[in-house]
Amino acid sequence: MTSTPVAEALADLRQNVSGWRKAGERVALVPTMGALHEGHLGLVRLARQHAERVVVSIFVNPTQFGPNEDFAKYPRTFEEDRSKLAGLADLVFAPAVETMYPPGDATFVTVAGPATVGLEDSFRPTHFRGVATVVAKLFLQVQPDVAVFGEKDYQQLQVIRRMVADLQFPITIIPGPTLRTEDGLAMSSRNRYLSEDEREQAAIINQTLRQCAEEIRETNDVEGALEAGRAVLSKAEFDIDYLEARDAETLAPVTDLSAKIRILVAARLGTTRLIDNIEA
Ligand code: PAF
Repeated sequence: MTSTPVAEALADLRQNVSGWRKAGERVALVPTMGALHEGHLGLVRLARQHAERVVVSIFVNPTQFGPNEDFAKYPRTFEEDRSKLAGLADLVFAPAVETMYPPGDATFVTVAGPATVGLEDSFRPTHFRGVATVVAKLFLQVQPDVAVFGEKDYQQLQVIRRMVADLQFPITIIPGPTLRTEDGLAMSSRNRYLSEDEREQAAIINQTLRQCAEEIRETNDVEGALEAGRAVLSKAEFDIDYLEARDAETLAPVTDLSAKIRILVAARLGTTRLIDNIEA
């Protein structure tokens, strides 16, 4: 199979996209940081259902990592990623840091409101500013008709939706379902940091979310279900950042049990931080 062409420069990207546009083709963007796994490939296949052309961006975005996070050790597997995309994507956009952040760069996009209050933001206070900024840049560069984001990063998805609505990007955001391994662990590029034992234990995260969701549906006791879930995770030696229930659309605290609820969790196993979420 022929390998997917790569554009590193903006001029290259624009030339490809404008050729497609002239031919009346729709364009989808799947933003990634590389280290691609089946979960990403599922998003790329989903993108293909919505557009004739699919661009996958691969860029490990420095501004969304905090000073003590894993930016330096984040897996960079470009050639493998590129071969996984053969036959699935039309173009890989792999810009250099200086392309995304020109010298003297001083502009950020900050999303406020309930979507960025708490959860990840309590533990990674500059994370969503970095994500919103890089995604806004990618949207302006690629100018896609649709963009696909995985539900695994549920808060990120809601932050992007808020940004798209507020800045009136003419782009449809398509959520991609979380792909899981057989034991329920959400696929993530960071799963490769887990030791063998931790990898087995990691399945408890999704089991706990499912128990919480069931209990909430059966008892309507949101706090009780979450307390029980936190106890299970602590007993299994997870270091919990949060296990919370939020309004599924706004991410505001739950006040109305008839509205859709999302349960979100972040917990550490050893040095690996895992996140997951589920509808209640
Ligand atoms: O979800 C990710 O991989 C990243 O946060 C994204 C959306 C590609 C922005 O860097």
